[in-house]
Amino acid sequence: MRFQSDGIDFYSNDYLGLAKSKELQNILLQKITENPQLLSGSTGSRLISGNSDVANSVERLIAQKHQFESALLFPSGYNANLALFSTLPSRHDTVIVDEQIHRSVHDASQLSNAKKLKFKHNDLEDLENILKRQRGHCYIAIESLYSMEGDFAPVQEIAAIADQYKASLIVDEAHAFGVFGYGLIEKYELQKKVLATVVTYGKALGAHGAAILCNETVKSYLVNFASPFIYTTSAQDFQWVSIKTGYEFLDQHQELAKKLQDNIKIFRSRNLQSPSSEISPIQAILIPDNQKLKALQNTLSEEGFLTYAIYSPTVKPGSERLRICLHSFNTEEEIIKMTGIIKESI
Ligand SMILES: Cc1ncc(COP(=O)(O)O)c(C=O)c1O
Repeated sequence: MRFQSDGIDFYSNDYLGLAKSKELQNILLQKITENPQLLSGSTGSRLISGNSDVANSVERLIAQKHQFESALLFPSGYNANLALFSTLPSRHDTVIVDEQIHRSVHDASQLSNAKKLKFKHNDLEDLENILKRQRGHCYIAIESLYSMEGDFAPVQEIAAIADQYKASLIVDEAHAFGVFGYGLIEKYELQKKVLATVVTYGKALGAHGAAILCNETVKSYLVNFASPFIYTTSAQDFQWVSIKTGYEFLDQHQELAKKLQDNIKIFRSRNLQSPSSEISPIQAILIPDNQKLKALQNTLSEEGFLTYAIYSPTVKPGSERLRICLHSFNTEEEIIKMTGIIKESI
C-alpha cells in the first residue's frame, strides 16, 4: 500500500485513473505471462547491450502517433529534460525559460555552458524583449499546462514568436498529455514549429517514463551526446511495453478524458476563486495565509480528502494555495462535499 493512499484522491497526477485500472493491470499481467523476459534487466546502456527491438518499435509507434519524425524514450520526464537541456544548448546560446518551468529544466541548465534567463510567466512582451537583446542562438522552454497554477501557455503565440526570432522552442507536455489528447502540440499541429516536446507517462498514462519527440537529427545528436541517455542502464522492456499498452488503452477509452472534463465543470460551477483555466484538471485555490491554509488542509484530511497545499516561501507570500487535482474517477458527491468545506473556510 502506498503512503497516505487511504483517502479521496484530489492530489495525484493520475488524472484518468489509469494507475488504478484493474482492466489495464490485467492486460499488462497477460503480457508478462506471455513473455516473462519483459521483467528482466536490460543489462546495459542502450548504446551497448541495453537496446532492444521493443524499445525501438515503441519509439517508432510514439513518433507516428504524435506525427513527429522521431521519438526517444527515457525512464522519466526528469531524465528527458535533463538530457535535452544539458546537451542541446552550448556555450554561446541562451536558454529562455518561463519563470514557472519545471525544476528539471533548471537542473539541466546547470550542466550546460549556456546562459539561462527567465521571462515572466506567460508574458509574451517580456519574452520578446529578452529575445531582442540576445546575440547567439536562443532556446525557449515552456510547459503547455503549468502544474502550479493550472493555466495554459499561449503555445501558438509563443511558437510564432520563436519563428520570428529564429529561436528553438521546446515544450514540456507533462500535464497536458492524455488529458487533452496527445497534447497541445498535436492538437494545434505545431510539430514543425517546435524543436522538441517532452511527454511524460507518469501522470495521465498511469505508468512511468517519458519520450522526447523531435526530428531525426535531434534524436541522433541526443543519442550520441546526451549523458543522461548514454551513461545509464536502460529500463526494462516492461516499462516500454506498459507505455505502448497505455497508448492503446487511452485510444480505446476516450470517455475518461470526457468524464474528467465533466468533473472539472462540476468543480468550476462551485465558484471558488481560482487563477486556473476552466478546463484544467489542476485547480489552484488561493488561500493567502500559511496558517489558514494548513488548517484547511487538515480539515480536508480529517474528512478524508487528500489535497496538496503549497506554502510560502515555496510560492511568493500572498500566493499560498491549495492545489486540487481532479480525476475522471472523482464523484460529483465528493467534489460537492470537498468544495463545500473549502467554501466554509474562506
Ligand atoms: C512539467 C513537468 N515536467 C517534467 C516532470 C518530470 O517527470 P517525471 O515525474 O516523469 O520525472 C514533471 C513531474 O513532476 C513535471 O510536472
